Amino acid sequence: MTGTTIRAMRDDDAEAVVALWHAAGVARPWNDPARDLAFARRDPHSTVLVAERDGRVAATAMVGEDGHRGWAYYVAVDPAHRGSGLGGAIMAGAEDWLRARGVWKLQLLVREDNTAVKGFYEHLGYRDTRTTCFQKVIEP
Ligand SMILES: CC(C)(COP(=O)(O)OP(=O)(O)OC[C@H]1O[C@@H](n2cnc3c(N)ncnc32)[C@H](O)[C@@H]1OP(=O)(O)O)[C@@H](O)C(=O)NCCC(=O)NCCS
Repeated sequence: MTGTTIRAMRDDDAEAVVALWHAAGVARPWNDPARDLAFARRDPHSTVLVAERDGRVAATAMVGEDGHRGWAYYVAVDPAHRGSGLGGAIMAGAEDWLRARGVWKLQLLVREDNTAVKGFYEHLGYRDTRTTCFQKVIEP
């Protein structure tokens, strides 16, 4: 994409990344964004990708592999830049990151009420696996 760079985030991107998560509506009060960023960047199994446009962070995707599958979280585009290919570009970046590590399937969680985003993922070739996610906090 002309004028857009996909790269791993740097320490000095943290403020912009968290601001984008709030603006895009992917931040949740029960998730500490600083902790999530630090944990995803602590070892080579995961990272946080950003799409930089005109020197600013315009999209993000947290991507990682758990020894079996690839996962993406915090897929978000700055509301001012939506509909211009950044969502597709950051997902392509996540797929490339995983492919380079030998991972052959990428999956992600979509909240039941986020109906708007389902068409986006389907358009990119993702299919709804009709599974339910169970979760338990095992360490506060
Ligand atoms: C979902 C989101 C990431 C999409 O970003 P975007 O930059 O607007 O998407 P793009 O412009 O890259 O669209 C990529 C392609 O998907 C298509 N598309 C986008 N949204 C679509 C939708 N709801 N239904 C069908 N197709 C859609 C586009 O037309 C485009 O098609 P093309 O490549 O053939 O031109 C963005 O709207 C967003 O940040 N949403 C809020 C946060 C969120 O819900 N994240 C997901 C959490 S699971």
